[in-house]
Amino acid sequence: MRELQGKIAFVAGGSSGINLGIAHGLARAGAKIALVSRSADKIAAAAESLQQDGHDAFGMSADVRDFAAIERTLHETADRWESIDIVVSGAAGNFVASAARLSANGFKTVIDIDLLGTFNVFRASYPYLRKPGAVLIAISAGLAERPSMNQIHACAAKAGVNMVTKCLALEWGPEGVRVNAISPGPIDDTEGMRRLTPTPETEEALKRRIPLRDYGSKDDIAQLAVFLATDKARYITGAIIPCDGGSALAGSLASDDPLAAQV
Ligand code: NAP
Ligand code: COA
Repeated sequence: MRELQGKIAFVAGGSSGINLGIAHGLARAGAKIALVSRSADKIAAAAESLQQDGHDAFGMSADVRDFAAIERTLHETADRWESIDIVVSGAAGNFVASAARLSANGFKTVIDIDLLGTFNVFRASYPYLRKPGAVLIAISAGLAERPSMNQIHACAAKAGVNMVTKCLALEWGPEGVRVNAISPGPIDDTEGMRRLTPTPETEEALKRRIPLRDYGSKDDIAQLAVFLATDKARYITGAIIPCDGGSALAGSLASDDPLAAQV
């Protein structure tokens, strides 16, 4: 018997990258998977990649900024499979922009996707969670705690994600709902890193700052998510868990660091 056999997982932002990797990890452990993102084409292809591996999965198109739309996708999931055991909130948007060149709408857009989106996904899931025993996992980032050049929007948004994680762990813990966040470091072959280190030079410069001197893989993050979703993590809640090769130990870049132009 696989450790998540019979569990239902809902993965927001699950059409690509780290979140799709998490979906594959949860599915390999036995969970059925509902995926949500904006693009109908991307989400259909992602669901098909799970089905081709023999997993029970389907995809729905919705924007995490739209509470009613997210409610509908959760309702559809619970309609199909009765209740929901695992919710991953990983939808995010990011780009490199200095504060002086960032419009109010640019800042708001990232806050809305990452922070409001995480609240929406977790809050809308609440009536459908199997209690006790449900597990919520937010996807944060090291820049939630470390100010970073040209990332004021993402730093502020992910700092908020960490606080949403902790507040919900506090409020929903007595009902047997565990809420944690994974804080990935630089992960290979992802849209996030294509945007933040677009050239081989910036990638090498960033790797020199990572104590383990390499990017992580999507599977590194998936393995942690599977662990958090199982009973092995039954006493862990309200935690922000780095999986980052030690990246959190390095300080912020100075403004005159050549990497600061990119990262
Ligand atoms: P990605 O492949 O671009 O994943 C982002 C996902 O979110 C996509 O599936 C995208 O699909 C979806 N999405 C974006 N806006 C949405 C919205 N408004 N509503 C619904 N879905 C939306 O990026 P990634 O690099 O793998 O990042 C995944 C997560 O890991 C993010 O939370 C990111 O902040 C975090 N992270 C990444 C790294 C890294 O090294 N890459 C490091 C630290 C943290 P659609 O376009 O179809 O909507
Ligand atoms: N630099 C500065 N501002 C930018 C920008 C950039 N590279 N990209 C977008 N913006 C601004 C826009 O100019 C706009 O502000 P304005 O109205 O004042 O001009 C605002 O952000 C919204 O842009 P828009 O393109 O309408 O947003 P969207 O909701 O369609 O897309 C994004 C959201 C911008 C985050 C888009 O990059 C996206 O969909 N990203 C998802 C994938 C991703 O980022 N993956 C990595 C995850 S870590």
